[in-house]
Amino acid sequence: MFSLLKPFIFKIDPEMAHDLAIKSLKYNFLPEELFTVENESILESKIFDTKIKNPIGLAAGFDKSAEVYNSLFKFGFGFVEVGTITPKEQLGNPKPRVFRLEDDRALINRLGFNNDGLEKVTQRLQKNSPTNFLGINIGPNRDSNNKTEDYLKCIKEIYNFANYITINISSPNTPGLRDFHNKNTLKQLLKNITEFTKKNRIQKPLVLKISPDIAFNEIGNIIELVKAFNISGIIISNTTDKNRENLTGKFKNEPGGLSGEPLAKISNDLIKKFFKEIKGEVTIIGVGGVNSGLTAYEKIKAGASLLQLYTGMVYEGPGIVKKIKSELIDILKKEKIKNVSEIVGVGS
Ligand SMILES: Cc1cc2nc3c(=O)[nH]c(=O)nc-3n(C[C@H](O)[C@H](O)[C@H](O)COP(=O)(O)O)c2cc1C
Repeated sequence: MFSLLKPFIFKIDPEMAHDLAIKSLKYNFLPEELFTVENESILESKIFDTKIKNPIGLAAGFDKSAEVYNSLFKFGFGFVEVGTITPKEQLGNPKPRVFRLEDDRALINRLGFNNDGLEKVTQRLQKNSPTNFLGINIGPNRDSNNKTEDYLKCIKEIYNFANYITINISSPNTPGLRDFHNKNTLKQLLKNITEFTKKNRIQKPLVLKISPDIAFNEIGNIIELVKAFNISGIIISNTTDKNRENLTGKFKNEPGGLSGEPLAKISNDLIKKFFKEIKGEVTIIGVGGVNSGLTAYEKIKAGASLLQLYTGMVYEGPGIVKKIKSELIDILKKEKIKNVSEIVGVGS
């Protein structure tokens, strides 16, 4: 179905195509049975002590305002992350701000956290309970003069609806956001967040989403802080605003974050470095260029026990989840692996 529609979809501006997808998903009409695979039990995984059917999640940025998460679960994702949500509604940067690099199987976006804001999103979550494991990704408003306060506001309003909360410090499209990767700034942020959650008796797994553009010598600092403040997971990674050299698409020099195939190796290398030092104490969620059983397999071997994807779905449609699961099951069976968790980090 998607391959028939793809030539038409790819003639439309990427953001318009995305808005149409969100509109149609609101009808939630596709039967779950379309997306099931055999022998899925081999993929059964754990996310912060909860069992889920498979480790393939939807990355933040597709359902930015938490409008269609229950339709997305039907595509066969093991978990879905919505957001990034900011305290106030935000329009984002001027359009056009999403670009397809078809030959590179990549996207560049500079959306800038366009979303409906906390109030509307919490109303939606209240009306429509998530039917499966839901992560909520939060960030500060662009014009905020107290970014830390923005994270705290979001945590307070949404924690009740989330199975985990992602502290997003890594979008390249919000000026100054990635400064939170600096040791002292991150320490202060995590200290404020932990004090706040303790004081308000909020017990939810917290996850930190990081940039692939960090220097390798910053890894140690991040790991130390993540452990010290009991952060449950780390998402590696967000998009990169570098690494344009080998791209061929005509939009390759558009400012913004690059995602998709060119990000796969960059994020895998970073996952390997984190896995070696983290020693299983913090869950690694691997993101960047997952679009087949093999790319999923490589990321898990690098050290990710859970995965997420976004760009792959733009190029291959919702059937990509079923495809990745079937291909990954075949690979695991050939290798005589009984459960996917056995291969986490074996290639790092
Ligand atoms: C159009 C677009 C919008 C995105 N918006 C967000 C966002 O709001 N918050 C976030 O944490 N990541 C966002 N991301 C990053 C993705 O969650 C993911 O980390 C990145 O795209 C790499 O995965 P992929 O190669 O599978 O796309 C966005 C990505 C794309 C392509």
